[in-house]
Amino acid sequence: MILKVAQLGHPVLRKKAEPVPLEKISSPRIQGLIQDMLETMEEYDGIGIAAPQVHVSLQLALIGSQGSPRYPKAPKVPFTVLINPKIKPVSSHKEVDWEGCLSVEGLRGQVPRWRSVEVEGYNAKGEWFRFRADGFHARVVQHEWDHLQGHVYLDRMPDLTTLCYMKEFARYWADD
Ligand code: NI
Repeated sequence: MILKVAQLGHPVLRKKAEPVPLEKISSPRIQGLIQDMLETMEEYDGIGIAAPQVHVSLQLALIGSQGSPRYPKAPKVPFTVLINPKIKPVSSHKEVDWEGCLSVEGLRGQVPRWRSVEVEGYNAKGEWFRFRADGFHARVVQHEWDHLQGHVYLDRMPDLTTLCYMKEFARYWADD
């Protein structure tokens, strides 16, 4: 089922999400939510979606892309379900790149993010995992993790001078 995506201003996007109890991961509610979030992410050509974006304040997010029309130049991102994720930077190096968000419709902005992060959490089967993500993959993980803390990418922009509408992004910045 395709879910409605909360837009900036909805309080659910600003709340720190609750951890998913591990024994609930296999429940029909959580498994159904994961399936619905997947359908919603695909419907809107997202490369990540966090439960608060579909009005559920739980520490659950999906990432993954085999090539998105919203991000034609972006590298592929392996499909991953992140439950109760924790991240830490692998080095102090940050990179700046463009981001958008299904909850901040029609806008793009340049956001500094850690170049590499270590991610740990639980998958859709309730199995613990840990992996290292680099570059765009690391960026997507940090963007979704932020949603679980009540943050959107705008909060991470040191200033808003690069914020632009999609039409102007395509016209002036898409080759940047
Ligand atoms: Ni987002």
